[in-house]
Amino acid sequence: MIIAVDGPSGVGKGTLARTLAHHYNLAFLDTGLLYRQVALHVLEHAGNPENEEDVLKAVQRIDLTVFNDDNLRSEAVSQAASQVAIYPGVRDALFHLQRDFAKNYASPYKGAVLDGRDIGTVILPDADKKIYLTAHTEVRAERRFKELQSRGLDVTFDKILADVKARDRRDQTRVHNPLRPASDAFVLDTSYLSREEVLEKAISYIEK
Ligand code: DC
Repeated sequence: MIIAVDGPSGVGKGTLARTLAHHYNLAFLDTGLLYRQVALHVLEHAGNPENEEDVLKAVQRIDLTVFNDDNLRSEAVSQAASQVAIYPGVRDALFHLQRDFAKNYASPYKGAVLDGRDIGTVILPDADKKIYLTAHTEVRAERRFKELQSRGLDVTFDKILADVKARDRRDQTRVHNPLRPASDAFVLDTSYLSREEVLEKAISYIEK
């Protein structure tokens, strides 16, 4: 079984995808980490994430299999990931990697679950199940704010809210593979749902 989970930041995609992976014994790929890797490499080499040449150089040089850098989750990298993600050269370079992951999962896995922005629309249009999570902007900013605070980072809610809005705008309006639900996706608003309720609704959609 191949499952696509898409949606904007702070909506609970990662948590849901990880839990589904565990529940159904599926290989799991957080595709945002690929864009974050590119962004981190650009920032660490004094590049500009809004300069296409800097970004494409980073794509050619990085090792896209190492995901253990704490900096990948920082707010600066979140913004830069959304900036590098507008370039078709980046998206093309990551396309096959994501698709191969979904097709070549190794035993004992029984399939794969990928979370991102364009999984159901572009990367895996034939996925068996597609889930698109949404939630109010303020709720998502609050979740992100609490997450960063719990990691001991010095952040303000207003700054995070502005960041979430900027990222939404960029991810939704870019020309190549913008964030949007696939026409055949199960759309779920998680604003007022607990993690358990989101999981329960996702499972009942999958098993319908
Ligand atoms: O899911 P995330 O917050 O880690 O993603 C970081 C950025 O990467 C996101 O703002 C846009 C980009 N991204 C993308 O364009 N396509 C994906 N499938 C996943 C992430």
